[in-house]
Amino acid sequence: MRYGQFDDEQREYVIDRPDTPLPWINYLGTDAYFGIVSNTGGGYSFYRDARLRRLTRYRYNNAPLDLGGRYVYVRDDETGDYWSPSWQPTPERELDDYECRHGLSYTKIASSRGGIRAETLYFAPLNETLEVWRVRVTNNRTKKAELSLFSSVEFCLWDAQDDATNYQRNFNTGQVEVVDGVIYHKTEYRERRDHFAYFGTSAKDDLQGFDTQRETFLGPYRGWDRPLVVENGTAKNEIAHGWQPIGSHHVRVHLEPGETREVVFVLGYAENPKDDKFDPPGSQTINKTRVRPVIDRWLDSAQVQRGFDDLRAYWDQLLGSLTVQTPDGDTNRMVNVWNAYQCLVTFNLSRSTSFYESGIGRGMGFRDSNQDLLGFVHMIPERARERILDIAATQKADGGAYHQYQPLTKRGNNDIGDGFNDDPLWLILGVAAYLRETGDHTFLDEPVPFDNVEGSEAPLYEHLQRSLRYTLDRLGPHGLPLIGRADWNDCLNLNCFSDTPGEPFQTTENASGGVAESVFIAGLFVLAAKELAVIAGLRGQDGEEVVYRAAAEKMAGTITEHGWDGAWFRRAYDFHGTVIGSGENDEGQIFIEPQGICVLGGVGLDDGLAVKALDSVAERLATPHGIVLQQPAYSSYRIELGEISSYPPGYKENAGIFCHTNPWIMIAETMVGNGDRAYDYYRRINPSAREEISETHRTEPYVYAQMIAGRDAPTHGEAKNSWLTGTAAWNFVAITQWILGIRPDFAGLRIDPVLPSGWPGFEATRGFRGATYEITVRGTGARVTYLLVDGERIDGNLVPPAPPGAVVRVEAIRE
Ligand code: BGC
Ligand code: NOJ
Repeated sequence: MRYGQFDDEQREYVIDRPDTPLPWINYLGTDAYFGIVSNTGGGYSFYRDARLRRLTRYRYNNAPLDLGGRYVYVRDDETGDYWSPSWQPTPERELDDYECRHGLSYTKIASSRGGIRAETLYFAPLNETLEVWRVRVTNNRTKKAELSLFSSVEFCLWDAQDDATNYQRNFNTGQVEVVDGVIYHKTEYRERRDHFAYFGTSAKDDLQGFDTQRETFLGPYRGWDRPLVVENGTAKNEIAHGWQPIGSHHVRVHLEPGETREVVFVLGYAENPKDDKFDPPGSQTINKTRVRPVIDRWLDSAQVQRGFDDLRAYWDQLLGSLTVQTPDGDTNRMVNVWNAYQCLVTFNLSRSTSFYESGIGRGMGFRDSNQDLLGFVHMIPERARERILDIAATQKADGGAYHQYQPLTKRGNNDIGDGFNDDPLWLILGVAAYLRETGDHTFLDEPVPFDNVEGSEAPLYEHLQRSLRYTLDRLGPHGLPLIGRADWNDCLNLNCFSDTPGEPFQTTENASGGVAESVFIAGLFVLAAKELAVIAGLRGQDGEEVVYRAAAEKMAGTITEHGWDGAWFRRAYDFHGTVIGSGENDEGQIFIEPQGICVLGGVGLDDGLAVKALDSVAERLATPHGIVLQQPAYSSYRIELGEISSYPPGYKENAGIFCHTNPWIMIAETMVGNGDRAYDYYRRINPSAREEISETHRTEPYVYAQMIAGRDAPTHGEAKNSWLTGTAAWNFVAITQWILGIRPDFAGLRIDPVLPSGWPGFEATRGFRGATYEITVRGTGARVTYLLVDGERIDGNLVPPAPPGAVVRVEAIRE
């Protein structure tokens, strides 16, 4: 069953009923000002940091779901009937029709009731710190309509954590100011004098009044479903002192039959410069000299339209960097639009803000951000570069990493600390992806500090060397890398032991001293060491190239010796030296991660182990809804394994379909030449291909979710935690670079598709180092044997880089 459909032409997902199984959300903003918006207008906005600079309130975990948002009420002043055109927060008031269109960084919600149609477009213009709501109201009745519009936002008192806990203080601090129809939210302005929010409307003569105190607007003990002010049709013009500041405008709209009126609302954030001459300390009012012109500009309809057109053009340009035409529509729309879009959103927001991430808990992840950039580096290499420098500057001198850093300060986050021993190696893969895409090897000479300490700068290249060294300095009893607190699998906490029966067990925070080892990190090391070897070679550091290759080979040997279980790669050894992910275990016998990453590192490709491991995955882990993380699921909690066994069977790391890992298997299958299997796995978790089972899948059909419940779960096939997940980048890499095979390489663009057997080929356009490649893949052979590059034959599959601006025609022939 579906709740809408894709509009491929417009690049929108069209939801045609409001009661989706879960709020289906979208994102506003592209750079510094962001928000989430659901298909019923729910969500919130923030500037840069969803915890510290939150503009509006939202209540997670609420009943009903998804309450708090950008709501506009329409009131029929002749009958007193009122409703919200976005359905929420007045779901009892039935709509005659409803449609939500989630587009790229904008959302349109339109509906009708009693012959009045209202359509609201929400977007945040490029290079501004504000969002626009453009409301168009149309009278489809045969007689005139006397209407009122009431806008509404509930302000958050900036720090979302404090806002949700510190009531004894916060009930006193809220302050607003209203000048010429603009509501300024200025809590914290007394002491800080540096930031405030504003909420304005284009209505001038029709502006009847405003409200800024929530309980006055709603009426005592009433909810957003029946605000007293809306019910009565008269704003109270009250200025909030403490309690819960809100912003609401009351606008009168008279419409002749067939007439449409446009009313614009602008919600934004402003920051005063530190040495603000306009606004000297001591003044209690906000000086509007700077901000008022910005507000007025965006309240103008023509400017709104221009801003919206610019936003569309921005996305045209970004998505134009790679487009494909394959025989499969689900593949096309994911690659051309939605998967790419999700990669950029994930890059911007990391794991901070979604319907599942509260915007409070997590900063930017070291491993997460490095992987995220694999999915967007081709669209905005400059921002990938910037991100890499930020991440690398948090690396410690011993090569170790803070697990997360704060987006506002860009400093390593001490609360979470370090000891996730895979972290440093991801930096090598992130940098390698950037170099493959851009060819910009001078980047490696960029001076970057360690732990942001001034004076500690070393070339980026040295950071990569220290990343490798970090692993080599921490090998365990079998010569495999120590796992520390955990590796990629946050929940495999193998150093959580208790020496003394009855004593509390060690927590993950102090467990990095143990000797548990990870086959996953070993595989990742092989992959990273080979990348660094190539990079060293390209720098002319031949000695180092040899050393890194030897280190990779040695580690691969250790994997074969101690990490091979007979039919698949083992997962780890715990604190006591007990093997994990082996036929010897009663549960948790086979894990997906080492099967993927070891093959990606090339382990087992020459001796048949890779094929065996992948067959075991197909046999034991693959389900129709995707590949589960491990089997058999842990049926009870095991202190020696930690968080993984805290999840009920089939969820999250305990045998859920952890979608992030599935593309590793897809890629591995292409490496052994099995295009059918790779593509089959790709389709199983492709959200667009799952659209028909939306009632089972439940999250948005246009983006990947972190997890789909595994076969041990009662809700097998149900997705959770959509949007902010490494799944986005890795699936993009799997389909575009390995199945379709358009893969940036150090020396050029490789065209190395490993396609499903029924496919005749496909077409693609790819920007690469400033040139454009128009690619046609044809022929029925297994692999590309030669290329025609602008008609000239080149044996093999590597297209040499053309000068910037060139348009190159590439035919890739599979004989
Ligand atoms: C989750 C992981 C997540 C981690 C974040 C764990 O509870 O299971 O998926 O990466 O929390 O800190
Ligand atoms: C989500 C985390 O963000 C990521 O870093 C981790 O690798 C996976 N969960 C698996 O635990």
